[in-house]
Amino acid sequence: MEKLDISVLHSDYAKLDGQEVTVGGWVRSTRDIKSFGFIDLNDGTAFKGAQIFCDADMKDYAEVMKLNAGSSMICTGKVVLTPENKQPYEIHATNVTILNATDDTYPIQKKRHSAEFLREYAYLRGRTNIFNAVFRVRNKCAYAIHKFFQEENFMYMHTPIITSADCEGGSDVFRVTTHKFYDPKYMEKATPEGDFFGKNVFLTPTGQLEAEAFALTFSKVYTFGPTFRSENSNTTRHASEFWMIEPEMAFCDLQGDMDVMERMIKYIINYVFETCKAELEFLDQFVEKGLIDKLRNVVDNEFAHITYTEAMEILKKNNDKFEFKVEWGCDLQSEHERYLSEQVFKKPVFVTDYPKDIKAFYMRLNEDGKTVAACDLLAPGIGEIIGGSQREERYDVLLQKIKDFNLKPEDYEWYLNLRKYGSVVHSGYGLGFDRILMYVTGVSNIRDVQPCPRTPKNCNF
Ligand code: 4AD
Ligand code: MG
Repeated sequence: MEKLDISVLHSDYAKLDGQEVTVGGWVRSTRDIKSFGFIDLNDGTAFKGAQIFCDADMKDYAEVMKLNAGSSMICTGKVVLTPENKQPYEIHATNVTILNATDDTYPIQKKRHSAEFLREYAYLRGRTNIFNAVFRVRNKCAYAIHKFFQEENFMYMHTPIITSADCEGGSDVFRVTTHKFYDPKYMEKATPEGDFFGKNVFLTPTGQLEAEAFALTFSKVYTFGPTFRSENSNTTRHASEFWMIEPEMAFCDLQGDMDVMERMIKYIINYVFETCKAELEFLDQFVEKGLIDKLRNVVDNEFAHITYTEAMEILKKNNDKFEFKVEWGCDLQSEHERYLSEQVFKKPVFVTDYPKDIKAFYMRLNEDGKTVAACDLLAPGIGEIIGGSQREERYDVLLQKIKDFNLKPEDYEWYLNLRKYGSVVHSGYGLGFDRILMYVTGVSNIRDVQPCPRTPKNCNF
């Protein structure tokens, strides 16, 4: 069976005029106008489906017209150009083979379902327009990221999923173990040394530390993979499993780091403009009004820069607006991040030079001894989408930081050694892939940009 992708028909219909083609897909809807009828057929290769025209004397016409949404079929027919209509061509069916007809338990009907309802049917929700658009954009963003870094001469590396290095500081990690927790008698004697790897290991919350080692060998590297955090925060921006892009660059300071971040974000958006026009127009109309203008603005303007200390001055003057009142030294809450990006700058903003005590141990200590060369990129509507920093490249300073953070130097032996064996100034960052997708699609809940969301008490499809 020579089946044509509907996406190919969408681009090549003029060439295929008058020819017989075979397509397969899932019915979105049928319309029976008695002497003829239409099927909206979607095979997922394009955002929009193909319109199939059926004459009433076609074999099985009545049965085909009664098909529910979600039914699968193969259809053979002739390509007919319809320049006077909204869609520029139709397929005039000569034969429709029904593969699998859904019954009325099929949950996705023509009406608009709530995002909550569709989360219950995550295995089917890609068949709705919104999720179809979101997952197509997700695909293009992932490709754009590889394209960007490859064009900029970065080397892609695979950092491990199972790690003993817990770099983001402690408790919010999933343990990986073969100990029999369901067997209390066994557990009486269970020790980290007796476990599979002979010590405590985790699902990685970041690939940064390993990326640093490769950056100090290959100069410019990036990792792009799944990361895991067991923080029990049920927000619209946190997932227990999410994808992160982590570039790491030798001979690069914080300013160079931020330059790459800005170029990368603009590149991703431009690529989505080029490849997902129909999807963006749909999302602009049904998910976030003004989405395209918002993204256009990001591409056309420079991102704002502000230090943490300057940001504190602004926020302190507006403390009455916040649930959490700010004070120099405190961490920024989502409400503060959003105030800065949405009210003050109205565009993405880099906040730099945070107090050392609220950031990770590996960030480079500034001359003032109080702040570190770190930056977060805050986006309107979301808050933090990137966290990055210049790394502490001085052995003695790093060792002291590890001790100050109550970490054990012996757990960071190879990481410390990198500061003895050819240390150089280096920097990197982590872009939350699911968060940039929220920003690019306008979708306000991280659960709705992930194919298989993982959040506390939720691990189904
Ligand atoms: O700021 P974070 O914790 O930074 C790191 O992990 C560094 N090691 C990155 C680096 O410098 N290589 O996380 C980076 C980004 C955040 O800005 C956010 O976008 C995303 O990862 N992120 C999450 N996304 C979804 N769900 C969560 N629970 C997330 N936690 C962080
Ligand atoms: Mg962060």
